[in-house]
Amino acid sequence: MPNKILVTYTSKYGSTRKYAEWIALALNSDLLDAQTIEPKALSQYDVVIYGGGLYAGGIAGVKLVTQNPCKNLIVFTVGLADPNATDYSKIINKNFSPELHAKTKFFHLRGGIDYKKLGPVHKVMMSMMKGMIQRKPESEREAVDIEFLNTYNSKVNFEDKGTIDSIIAYVKGL
Ligand SMILES: Cc1cc2nc3c(=O)[nH]c(=O)nc-3n(C[C@H](O)[C@H](O)[C@H](O)COP(=O)(O)O)c2cc1C
Repeated sequence: MPNKILVTYTSKYGSTRKYAEWIALALNSDLLDAQTIEPKALSQYDVVIYGGGLYAGGIAGVKLVTQNPCKNLIVFTVGLADPNATDYSKIINKNFSPELHAKTKFFHLRGGIDYKKLGPVHKVMMSMMKGMIQRKPESEREAVDIEFLNTYNSKVNFEDKGTIDSIIAYVKGL
């Protein structure tokens, strides 16, 4: 197992931070909020594990690791959609060049949402997303769309500590 491991994250409502804390504890690694990192420090680590919440198809704060060199990069996303029913290729291709994509290991975890805690911009974004889905004919709605409508304006939490096991096993096998 590599010696020097960093877990770093961007989390707006806490789900990604919670996963990052669980992973750092399991690996006995450094843990830093991405906002506090000096980008040059990334290359000092054998492995960098970056976690970012999913926001409208983007991975929050991921430029930290796509624009600064890391020896060995692992990225985990945290979103509302069920990872088993979601195709992440568009999100990854939008954020990663083919070269970096080939060198990066990805994992996808599930977070939650509490509409009462959303900031005003996010509330508007969610209301626009709802409108877009509702305008789609029902036959064209994907699993993620149905999930979105089912959870709209409520509070749901799909955080699951057990889902970090595959990340821990992967890092221990490096
Ligand atoms: C404005 C907005 C857009 C979102 N877009 C997505 C998305 O595209 N895919 C997804 O799976 N989840 C999406 N979510 C849900 C978040 O990814 C989820 O709440 C996650 O747990 C946030 O992690 P964080 O609290 O660490 O930032 C969105 C949430 C908000 C508020």
